[in-house]
Amino acid sequence: MNRIAVVPGSFDPITLGHLDIIERAAGIFDELHVLVVHNPGKTALLPIAQRVTLIQEAVADAKFEGNIHVTSWSVGLLVDYCTEVGASVLVKGIRSQVDVAYETPMAIVNRDLAGVETVFMLPSPGHAHVSSSLVRQVDSLGGDVGPYVPDAVKRYLRDSRAE
Ligand code: PNS
Repeated sequence: MNRIAVVPGSFDPITLGHLDIIERAAGIFDELHVLVVHNPGKTALLPIAQRVTLIQEAVADAKFEGNIHVTSWSVGLLVDYCTEVGASVLVKGIRSQVDVAYETPMAIVNRDLAGVETVFMLPSPGHAHVSSSLVRQVDSLGGDVGPYVPDAVKRYLRDSRAE
């Protein structure tokens, strides 16, 4: 059986915490789709297409083993994408009890809607404090986000600052 999983998120921008989860999930499933989804509850830093490009570059730079696809979805429910590609599992990284509280209702609704299960994965301890919102805030105030993001994001933020 071909086990296809989706790692959904805003990825605005992708962090080393995301990359850690993507690497470990790619080692478990036959096919992994990293899916950029617009979250209307968040003010975006990067356009969706740019987020996809940065994830593709970060995954290519990291040379992970595994069948990884990166794309975006904007035309309906997350589980509609899962149905379209035959994915039966969503993978989410869980850093704290706050993440558990945020993710649990979504996991139950996604299972109710389409029978899609959610698997929670714990990040490596070194990444447990890293979030895209922290990266956006530090970057917007002129701080160095180098320790938290892949090289592709560092290059992008440096170039956009130079423009
Ligand atoms: O990285 P984020 O912002 O925490 O990701 C949240 C995201 C985009 C995965 C979540 O908002 C989501 O699943 N959006 C898709 C809309 C949807 O299907 N909603 C109904 C079930 S929860």
